[in-house]
Amino acid sequence: MSTIESPKGVKEYLPPESAEYVAVRDALSAPARLAGYGYAELPIFESTELFRRGVGESTDVVSKEMYTFDDRGGRSLTLRPEGTAGVMRAVIEHSLDRGQLPVKLWYAGPFFRAEQPQHGRYRQFFQVGVEAIGVDDPALDAEVIAIGDEGFRSLGLTNFTLEITSLGDAVCRPAYREKLVAFLDGLDLDDETRRRAQLNPLRVLDDKRSEVRRQLADAPLIIDHLCDGCAEHFGAVRGYLDGLGVAYTVNPRMVRGLDYYTKTTFEFVHHGLGAQSGIGGGGRYDGLMSELGGQELSGIGFGLGVDRAVLACRAEGLTVGLQTRVDSYLVPLGEAARARCVTLAGELRRSGVRVDFAYGGKGLKGAMKGADRSGARFAVVLGDRDIEAGVAQVKDLSNGEQIAVPLIDLVTVMKEKFL
Ligand code: HAM
Repeated sequence: MSTIESPKGVKEYLPPESAEYVAVRDALSAPARLAGYGYAELPIFESTELFRRGVGESTDVVSKEMYTFDDRGGRSLTLRPEGTAGVMRAVIEHSLDRGQLPVKLWYAGPFFRAEQPQHGRYRQFFQVGVEAIGVDDPALDAEVIAIGDEGFRSLGLTNFTLEITSLGDAVCRPAYREKLVAFLDGLDLDDETRRRAQLNPLRVLDDKRSEVRRQLADAPLIIDHLCDGCAEHFGAVRGYLDGLGVAYTVNPRMVRGLDYYTKTTFEFVHHGLGAQSGIGGGGRYDGLMSELGGQELSGIGFGLGVDRAVLACRAEGLTVGLQTRVDSYLVPLGEAARARCVTLAGELRRSGVRVDFAYGGKGLKGAMKGADRSGARFAVVLGDRDIEAGVAQVKDLSNGEQIAVPLIDLVTVMKEKFL
């Protein structure tokens, strides 16, 4: 019969690589826990309408990349392409915004976008995210940005840059948009680019083609057209980041792929990954809650790409999370020894020692091969004569040395070696 493969572009993690993945995910979320963010486990699928309204019809994510299907009741559902809209939906639905503000939540899990797969770009990928909702304070922006920065730094990553900018708000963006549209009207652009400019003129600034880039050299930039409130907010964020010792560069041409952003936006860009260099990004989204039917409350957050952070660690030669599977490996020789070893395995694991076992009645040679392959430091060999003598043979697999340890002391001795 033919075999079945995983769907195209879907990333999966198996041992030993999965240990790296888990370590990276945990490291990226640790700084959020230190800052009092609570964990949110949210649905993998939501009403399609949530992303249409929340993320925006004009984005590639919504218009081209969603996995959308009807459920058996004819409701349109979509596999979540990002986390912010779902968090906001849950905050409104469960009235978290009626309690203490800001609401601070973190999440981790799979997200889905039907993109063209390539190195670092997958159709199912993993993010660690945070959202801080309900207080429009630039110190909160700095907190969120610093949490992302600390997550990457705690892994040992150094070859990345934090880029920040401000996208303005409902006061200054419309006037800027008009200026930009007028500027774009005067350029020699192809029809497709003109269509894009009509949908979202800001996105044209992100065009990678040199003939377009050349024409955009003098384009008006929002950072030069911020209203007083936005300029002050951005200045304060920068000051707080300086105070936190978080290095950044201002990139006034940053374009984010989601429509909800206002004011502070940021990206973490790694320099060793090629085209898919964005290892994390986020920003403020002050109109999102009301757009989704909730109160007029502000919010800020980020999503960090776990897959890309794993690749970034490898690109910088960092070994993260790769540890042996077990500390010790039990080798029973004979039935009485097997029964004794089953009990011993339980005792050792309860005391915190990681143990595997030579299952399947292998002879000594086969069992010792299994011990070597397991990565364990010690093999604990038990034969009938050992049981009579009340000892186990503990063999150090790194140098072949073997000592007899009284069975009643075995757990204590192994604990001393490993804990
Ligand atoms: P985003 O920039 O679309 O933002 O995604 C965040 C991160 O997820 C990216 O920087 C990248 O590392 C990773 N990522 C995105 N797409 C893929 C893909 N196809 N394959 C691998 N990794 C990918 C958001 O999703 C926003 N919800 C972030 C946010 C939270 N903004 C405010 N709050």
